[in-house]
Amino acid sequence: MTTEWSDFRDLDQQIEAAFPWMVEVRRHLHQYPELSHRETRTAKYIRESLEQWGIQTVSYTGKDVVGILKGAQEGETVALRADIDALPVEEKTGLHYASTNQGVMHACGHDGHTAILLCVARVLSKYRDLIKGTIRFIFQHAEEVVPGGAKELVEAGVMEDVDGIFGLHLWQPVEKGIVAAKKGPLMAGSDGFFITIHGKGGHGSMPHDTIDPVVVAAHLVSQLQSVVSRFVDPVYPAVLSVGKIMAGDSYNIIPDRAEIAGTVRYFDPKVRDQIEERIHRMAEGTCTSFGATCDINYVHGDPSVINDDKMNQIVMEVAEKVVGSDRVIEAVPSMGGEDFSYYLTQKPGAYFFLGMGGENARYPHHHPQFTIDESVMPIGVKMLTYSALQFLQLEVS
Ligand code: NI
Repeated sequence: MTTEWSDFRDLDQQIEAAFPWMVEVRRHLHQYPELSHRETRTAKYIRESLEQWGIQTVSYTGKDVVGILKGAQEGETVALRADIDALPVEEKTGLHYASTNQGVMHACGHDGHTAILLCVARVLSKYRDLIKGTIRFIFQHAEEVVPGGAKELVEAGVMEDVDGIFGLHLWQPVEKGIVAAKKGPLMAGSDGFFITIHGKGGHGSMPHDTIDPVVVAAHLVSQLQSVVSRFVDPVYPAVLSVGKIMAGDSYNIIPDRAEIAGTVRYFDPKVRDQIEERIHRMAEGTCTSFGATCDINYVHGDPSVINDDKMNQIVMEVAEKVVGSDRVIEAVPSMGGEDFSYYLTQKPGAYFFLGMGGENARYPHHHPQFTIDESVMPIGVKMLTYSALQFLQLEVS
């Protein structure tokens, strides 16, 4: 038996009919946000919902929930991912369903992502007989922190029998209803570096008897500004920012150590290697020239999100059907990080943005007044549903 697209003809109506329910789910999640690695209540809610629709659930880390919907026909496995964690932000939206968990807020839209993926699961569970292959719904914990949930899930084997993966982010910088997709690099890899400069402390009036780590740190912070501008090929995007500098306790004492910490963003891993090496050389060289020494800890964070061409093609084609070709744009890459990248190091996939900026969503992600525009959620459901089906039903292997 082969399945035709026309057999899924009621899908759009099913999705639209589920909209009021999906809004309720999202507002419920919004009211009870939980921080990264502590999403117990959220995970329980997700698990119970999936099981209610006859979807088998497993957990790879004890914090995530993975739903497995096996179609009636043999085929490949596609994964769809939503992140479920909230942020340490005090909500100031004034919404009647605002956070009841003080100091914690769904300020990035992950409540919307979770509601969207739950809706996809609920709707697709009614089409089991028509589905060729398996759909795996990954509700991932801890996207907002490093190390995050995706790394743990990948290490625990979540992608082992998966053939491809899709994910989305509700995106305030893009206008409501627009799908922004892009093949290749979409979001930056994100690393951290931590440098401790060891000098020799003493009295502020007798600097010649000291090795002043404050002066070394000041020189080094300035020098680091030339890593990207002078050593990285300008056609490759990269950022180096020092976000923290600490030294001393008193105005008249030269301390014996100073600390510098910063972040590096990149798309191409070769650029990352260059930057890492250059930070080492500059830090060591600068310290040596002053007679100081240093410890350098360069920490590799999430890799960059690099979309597979074919998977992105599926997203673009589906988007043209769902929102119309005039509402599909090429995404502007972001120097922000996203741990969806770990899944993409295992299997081909595509991550895309669903625009929701406008009157109902005026504040940027992570802002205390951040809101999502719920009216775009059905687009998200359709995008993930049709992308998964297109991958499974039409895949020629
Ligand atoms: Ni987010």
